[in-house]
Amino acid sequence: MRGDLERVLFDQPAIHRRLDDLAAQISNDYRDCDLTVIAVLHGSLMFVADLLRRIPLPLKLECLSVASYHGKAHTSGEVIFKFAATSPSGGGGQIPLPDVVGRDVLILDDVLDSGHTLAVVREALETAKPRSIRVCVLLSKKKQRAREVVTDYLGFEIEDEFVVGYGLDFKERYRNLPYIGVLRKELLEQPGK
Ligand code: IMP
Ligand code: MG
Repeated sequence: MRGDLERVLFDQPAIHRRLDDLAAQISNDYRDCDLTVIAVLHGSLMFVADLLRRIPLPLKLECLSVASYHGKAHTSGEVIFKFAATSPSGGGGQIPLPDVVGRDVLILDDVLDSGHTLAVVREALETAKPRSIRVCVLLSKKKQRAREVVTDYLGFEIEDEFVVGYGLDFKERYRNLPYIGVLRKELLEQPGK
């Protein structure tokens, strides 16, 4: 799989060092709060697992699944998501939202690209009446976004390139690489592989 990468951007020690800083900041900011972390799967899986183990606060974890790329290298703009809520509040909408009424919600995602996913997820969670909502992303691409999303916590800013590894996939591959790298452009263009 390493051969499919143009270059490595962040190796494991670099990622872990950055997570130490992020976790310290989050632990300090949420000290007397009722924190619910919302993990946007599958891309954020490694990030969430490594970050949360560095946050020594009582917290709840909810997961939601999102698909927006549908196996392509560019977002379709259509965001399909479902919560695996442990305690659905119903709310009358089509999506069972986790019960976050009066809680401090922190959304964790792998990468901010067009902004569609996080904008939709944030809007949905706002209807569940939390006390606060913030967003934490591991990576943010420097680009013009279709939807503006404020990131309260950010791991790394990157160029507008397609990256894989450490949870991030291309057609469900490369998630298990322990580092993050740029996928070779010709692989993005190969049809149906
Ligand atoms: P957005 O809705 O365009 O902001 O895209 C968000 C989602 O698309 C992320 O949570 C990722 O799952 C996926 N995505 C965006 N850019 C990349 C990338 O460079 N590599 C892998 N997945 C990506
Ligand atoms: Mg994702």
